Amino acid sequence: MRRHLLSAADLDLGDATLILDTAEQIDTALAGREVKKLPTLRGRTVVNLFFEDSTRTRISFELAAKRLSADVINFAAKGSSVSKGESLKDTALTLEAMGADAIVCRHSASGAPHRLAEWVQGSVINAGDGTHEHPTQALLDAYTIRRRLGRLDAVRVTIVGDVLHSRVARSNVVLLDTLGAQVTLVAPPTLLPVGVESWPAEVSYDLDAVLPKADVVMMLRVQQERMNASYFPSVREYSRRYGLDARRMATLPDEAIVMHPGPMNRGMEIAAEVADSVRSTIVEQVSNGLSVRMAVLYLLLGGAHMPDGAVA
Ligand code: NCD
Repeated sequence: MRRHLLSAADLDLGDATLILDTAEQIDTALAGREVKKLPTLRGRTVVNLFFEDSTRTRISFELAAKRLSADVINFAAKGSSVSKGESLKDTALTLEAMGADAIVCRHSASGAPHRLAEWVQGSVINAGDGTHEHPTQALLDAYTIRRRLGRLDAVRVTIVGDVLHSRVARSNVVLLDTLGAQVTLVAPPTLLPVGVESWPAEVSYDLDAVLPKADVVMMLRVQQERMNASYFPSVREYSRRYGLDARRMATLPDEAIVMHPGPMNRGMEIAAEVADSVRSTIVEQVSNGLSVRMAVLYLLLGGAHMPDGAVA
């Protein structure tokens, strides 16, 4: 029986649907309640082990664990013995010796949470590893699409921008395929990874051609901190070809929504008026992240209803 959530590929249709349904049950159970707290994980300990910067994901996991009444420890590499050279393995074993039931890990090295999972007894949740995967982001994105459009099957999702450096894109392509959606990637050729032809997605270089057929447009942040070379001529040129502005947004079908995982480069991949428009689900994605992460923690640590599979 698997204990971890390391990759979107760990989830089959049943697992993924159960997580989304559980998030919905949690939302319904807590709606209108003054005290938004469930006793489910009382006495359990969740450690947030973040080696890379984060605002939303770290706060979201912290709040999710607290709302399930778990004890939460926030570990940031800066200010810890990691700065003295302590290895990931020794750090993990130390946390485990203190009784961590779950470790939520973000790391700049792709594969770090997978290694962690080999060393500890508790559950490991991948909160973003390098350019590799970010499965809970994909789950919250799928949850947001399902809530807004009422379905995932045959939904046409266009993911635009820096696919090369995006763990969000990787996890979304895998999960959306599992859930029956049709994904199109739009990016400059320099920002597409080698081997993208083998992904379950179509590829286009022409944003204007794709938008009129999209139910969902997911804009990706241009990840300049991961770029060691020049991938496009200028910010202006990038925005002109691959940015979503009001003119482009107007070519979308009436019901289509605009997503972005955050943090945004306003004015680069997305215009401020698009980010703040009624089509934008950017703020909803953040609140949905909380319910989805509560569902994941609940199913990994406490829930009895998970069938065989990655998060059982
Ligand atoms: C993403 C990440 O960290 O991978 N952000 C997030 O988790 N909300 C995307 C990004 O950094 O661009």
